[in-house]
Amino acid sequence: MKYKGIIFDLDGVICSTDKYHYKAWKKIADQLEIPFDEEMNDKLRGVSRMESLELILQNGEKVYSNGDKQTLAEAKNLYYQKLLKQMSSKDLSEVVQNTLYALKRKGLLLGIGSSSKNTKLILERIGLLNFFDCISDGTMIERSKPDPEVFLKAAKLLKLLPAECLVVEDASAGAEAAYKGGFDCAGIKAAREYSHITYQLDHFEDLITYIEDEYE
Ligand code: BG6
Ligand code: MG
Repeated sequence: MKYKGIIFDLDGVICSTDKYHYKAWKKIADQLEIPFDEEMNDKLRGVSRMESLELILQNGEKVYSNGDKQTLAEAKNLYYQKLLKQMSSKDLSEVVQNTLYALKRKGLLLGIGSSSKNTKLILERIGLLNFFDCISDGTMIERSKPDPEVFLKAAKLLKLLPAECLVVEDASAGAEAAYKGGFDCAGIKAAREYSHITYQLDHFEDLITYIEDEYE
């Protein structure tokens, strides 16, 4: 096989939490009377909570203290976590579930590389908490994507080299992180358009062909 492991981004790849992130940030932005729409929300994909807040605040006029920013980020997260409670195994699509199990049956090591500090909570909601061979997430890193730290940590936990792993991403910040870390990357959504993407993923199940040696 071409790879020994696959490292998946979580939000937007394994499941769709984007709508909850949007709803929660929108609530905060409305309170602050800062314009915020779905297009701006797209720019926050793969970006950490505090960096996302900074980007939102740039569209307003007021200057906020670090304490204010902490309070705003916490308020967003509390509301976001409340929304996450609606999630269940129904939020794991059949295609994603079947593909993950098929890849595991082929003997590949499967990991998560997500900027989110809510990774374990989300995996628990969708019934995948104990499925992956490693979880590298926002609680373990200093620098968020496009820095490769979260993927390098995942590869290390899997005891694999970056060249032995394929990263699956939906955000261009994530695809850039994969490239900078020396990983091949299969991109969906915005990540498809990243200049150094290895595979443009049309259907999640295509991953099963990409990992075969004969696929070039
Ligand atoms: C990423 C999302 O996975 O996690 C971003 O794509 C989000 O939109 C980031 O900001 C941090 O998430 P959390 O759950 O730690 O606020
Ligand atoms: Mg993502």
